[in-house]
Amino acid sequence: MRRDPALQSFVDALLAAYAEVIPGAEAADSLERITAALASPGTRRERAGGRLPVCAHLDAALGVEPGRPSLRRLVEAFRGIEPDLEWVRRASHDETASENFADGHANAMILGPAGLENRRDIWIGVSLLAPHVRYTDHSHAPEETYLVLSPGEFRQGGGDWFEPGVGGSFHNTPHIVHAMRSGEAPLFAFWSLWVDPAA
Ligand SMILES: [Fe+2]
Repeated sequence: MRRDPALQSFVDALLAAYAEVIPGAEAADSLERITAALASPGTRRERAGGRLPVCAHLDAALGVEPGRPSLRRLVEAFRGIEPDLEWVRRASHDETASENFADGHANAMILGPAGLENRRDIWIGVSLLAPHVRYTDHSHAPEETYLVLSPGEFRQGGGDWFEPGVGGSFHNTPHIVHAMRSGEAPLFAFWSLWVDPAA
């Protein structure tokens, strides 16, 4: 089985962009397992893609000059698959989310459960926040490595908010509570998770 060229270009561009900024040994191990998994393509979802109203901010988010050739290539590859993505709202949130959260965010699974490539061993996707949105605190068993392509702040556990910057990356350990928030600009970030079959 072969992955279609647009999605394969995205996978190649994403892995190349991560390779330039791997934030530590845990992320390196995780990305290595993700890279190995990606060598076997999964089943392509046939359902049509679709946007949510908040996706009106996509053009602004993708218009940020990323500063590195690898990131420019990633943005171009992402544009190639975006029309096929199904943008959705997160199913639940708590009082940590801002009032405008429901209509102010969208997520799209690219490779993972119900993703464009439907599979269970990895979750690779993207989040978009409109300006001035605080995403709900959340946690999950798989560890996660972010690749951020916009301004915006992130938080892990009870720590301080930090800004990775355009092209920045950081790693979330299993089950750690985390969140993100946008300022004046939309927030746009990829996330890659490896699902431990033994967990
Ligand atoms: Fe997460």
